[in-house]
Amino acid sequence: MRKIVIAGNWKMNKTVAESVKLAGEVVAAAKDIKQVVVAIAPTYLALAKVAEVLQGSNVKLAAQDVHWENQGAFTGKVSADMLKEIGVDYVIIGHSEQRSYFGETDETVNKKVRKVLSLAMKPIICIGETLAERKEGRLESVLTRQVNGAYAGLSADEALSTVIAYEPVWAIGTGVTASDDEAQEAHAFVRGLLAKLYGDSVAQSISIQYGGSMKPENAAGLLAQKDIDGGLIGGAALKADSFLGIVRPGEGLSK
Ligand code: PGA
Repeated sequence: MRKIVIAGNWKMNKTVAESVKLAGEVVAAAKDIKQVVVAIAPTYLALAKVAEVLQGSNVKLAAQDVHWENQGAFTGKVSADMLKEIGVDYVIIGHSEQRSYFGETDETVNKKVRKVLSLAMKPIICIGETLAERKEGRLESVLTRQVNGAYAGLSADEALSTVIAYEPVWAIGTGVTASDDEAQEAHAFVRGLLAKLYGDSVAQSISIQYGGSMKPENAAGLLAQKDIDGGLIGGAALKADSFLGIVRPGEGLSK
């Protein structure tokens, strides 16, 4: 049995006051959600205040990134201890924006994943191909490199605490979504990679989210796919009603 995990990635949106307001709306709207794990990822700046709003609710707190070192001279960065203290449950790692604009590599993804796991938080490991890579027939080699890189040195037990977000880069923020079949095919391939690393039973227990222009209109179709276990939502997570419009179709599905 796998959990359906749906996380809102707010990116660089919302002031602290706006974040508190939206978090309150999500908490109210998600009250009746029983099976889907719902998480929201505000900016670092808003995490502490949003944590207060989420107390006692069924909405989990996520961060958008982390640094792998414990502390020190790393201007602009935030450590895993700092996130843990605030009550962060999930940490998004290796988002394509982080990879393409800020020099994230498979090695830094791996360091961050290990650090987050060492503090008993759950990494949401983002992978996905660009349009050029897909067109050149490199989908499988890119996903293989990213998965093997992210999981290097991780035990099966550690792997069980991870979530993967498969986000085709060409679908992020573009309004273009992978078709249900395209997404399912990539997810099945990724699960196969996990099976090669850890065996089938572990692979069957790791949730793999889809991300990239997921919205209420396409959520049910995507979530119905055998190997799609949730979503990482950008634009549509910035309003409580559209976010919950993606969460609700996940209720009652078993994976
Ligand atoms: P999007 O972003 O839903 O706006 O396409 C998803 C993501 O980047 O996680």
